[in-house]
Amino acid sequence: MYQSKIAGLGKYLPERIVTNKDLEQVMDTSDEWIQERTGIRERRYAEKHKETTTSMATQASLQAIERAGIDKEEVDFIIFATLSPDYYFPGCGVLLQRELGITRTEVGALDIRNQCSGFLYALSIADQYIKSGMYKNILVVGSEMHSMGLDFSTRGRGVTVIFGDGAGAAVVQRSEVNGQGILSSRLHSDGTYAEKLSFIAPGSHGGYHNDKLDQPIDYGFDTDSPYGEIFITQKMLDEGLHYPHMEGQFVFKLAVTKFPEVINEVLEDAGLQTSDIDMLIPHQANLRIASFVQKRLGLSEDQVFNNIQKYGNTTAASVPIAFCEAWEAGKIKAGDLVCLAAFGSGFTWGAALLRF
Ligand code: ACO
Repeated sequence: MYQSKIAGLGKYLPERIVTNKDLEQVMDTSDEWIQERTGIRERRYAEKHKETTTSMATQASLQAIERAGIDKEEVDFIIFATLSPDYYFPGCGVLLQRELGITRTEVGALDIRNQCSGFLYALSIADQYIKSGMYKNILVVGSEMHSMGLDFSTRGRGVTVIFGDGAGAAVVQRSEVNGQGILSSRLHSDGTYAEKLSFIAPGSHGGYHNDKLDQPIDYGFDTDSPYGEIFITQKMLDEGLHYPHMEGQFVFKLAVTKFPEVINEVLEDAGLQTSDIDMLIPHQANLRIASFVQKRLGLSEDQVFNNIQKYGNTTAASVPIAFCEAWEAGKIKAGDLVCLAAFGSGFTWGAALLRF
């Protein structure tokens, strides 16, 4: 049986730093409110009309590929997790293949739409392909350019202040060393509360986007026309449905329950305990969530890596960026037990335990 090891990590953060004070200039918020509720001091925004989700992913991928010591043409499969793709379709996976200059058409490209837990889903898929013997080198990427799609008026402040741009990548590689690499991964979902953390327009729902499917909401669609329904209406734009929506406290309460649950599951799978963890890399949703999880699991501060203070919440990119940064800082060494965990929109959540 093959094992999946992390052969190389890469990250890309755009140069532009946007502080909480900068956001105070455009909406009614304060540095104090943001830091107290989220831990965030600043975030990065990509260069508008120049950088894209894929271009950031390309930089992170090139670094991961180089650090893995392979040629880009040795990549067998690309898995790209994002909620902010360059296009509605095609997905970013093929765009990344093109930007990397991978000419082999034997490479497959898959896009993952699992928001904050996208990287965990992507990693788990990569693990299965490696274990089955189908592929040797899989490029797993999370990249987000939120800054193009946030509401910068005071209406959007509860969401906008949280998110940032960036990309992280990992080369997941076949290993034949027993006990190395991914020891366990678990994925979960519960669609009951899908709209509580959502971005619903444009979409094909036509007003049927809540949990009461027999009671569509009137968004001004032309219901008389038998053809040619449009994805988005003026009413939806007026109501800001083309921006992310989040019921923050609801998300918070679920997140602090699901993180510890799924982390305990992967530990149990591997016959290990929280005290065995050298580094927990939680999805950087909110510093308060991370510290709650740390305390709930009885971990020390040194066992948990956080960088949300500098980058905000980069959804699918947050775990690989943090993983890469922790490794670059020497906080993760060969042989360490690393746990990655995420919770987000869907709701979906997951964790992976690996021997680095
Ligand atoms: N600046 C100033 N005031 C604000 C801001 C802001 N940016 N945003 C909201 N407020 C105001 C609200 O309008 C409200 O005012 P009111 O009392 O006069 O009505 C007040 O602050 C409290 O609002 P709440 O939404 O109740 O604030 P809360 O304490 O819940 O904090 C937050 C909001 C930070 C989003 C919190 O709910 C949270 O951390 N939720 C977890 C969700 C999360 O982390 N999501 C990240 C993305 S999802 C993921 O990655 C899992």
